[in-house]
Amino acid sequence: MSFTIAIDGPAAAGKGTISRAVAAHFGFAHLDTGLLYRAVGAEMLAGTEPVAAARALRAEDLDAAALRSPEVAQAASKVAAIGDVRAALVDFQRAFAARAGGAVLDGRDIGTVICPDAAAKLFVTASAEVRAERRYRELLEAGADTNFAAVLADVRERDARDMGRVDAPLRAAADAVELDTSAMDIDEAVAAAIAVVETAM
Ligand code: C5P
Repeated sequence: MSFTIAIDGPAAAGKGTISRAVAAHFGFAHLDTGLLYRAVGAEMLAGTEPVAAARALRAEDLDAAALRSPEVAQAASKVAAIGDVRAALVDFQRAFAARAGGAVLDGRDIGTVICPDAAAKLFVTASAEVRAERRYRELLEAGADTNFAAVLADVRERDARDMGRVDAPLRAAADAVELDTSAMDIDEAVAAAIAVVETAM
């Protein structure tokens, strides 16, 4: 039997790190669904029509390292507002969720649209300032030339687009447990997430 964990939330709330740690803890597979939209966004930046790019997407195209730039993130949130792009990516995500042995999927609409019957649902948040601060530090460590105001503006712009779109907007599922990580370090956030999943097992 499959056991699916849905982890949603806005950009830089910590859901990627939490999802990887939760998957490792339970020995489950993990899919960062943002990578699907990032791959389509990167294709759009390279001149491919986004719906065609989404339909042609293969698992081998999901090279996390190549898809991490702020430009690709913004392109991802633009293609993610296109209903036909989202529709083209549903089957891949549901097949992943159904794999034997358990799966963790993180994204924006996993608990609401992709896996409404997930056994455990988490909505991971933090204030926009805290999320921008975390992202800013990551970018500096990676050697990027940036400033805090630009990163905060970027986070707010992506939040607005993700929450405001008509198709599968970013929001917590009614039965999701909300985890605000603003005042938590990563170990505390992971422990809290594992505790939530354990109550669903
Ligand atoms: O999570 P990540 O920042 O990599 O996602 C990039 C963009 O992809 C998000 O801003 C969002 O617009 C889109 N996305 C989505 N649905 C998901 C995952 C990501 O719309 N399940």
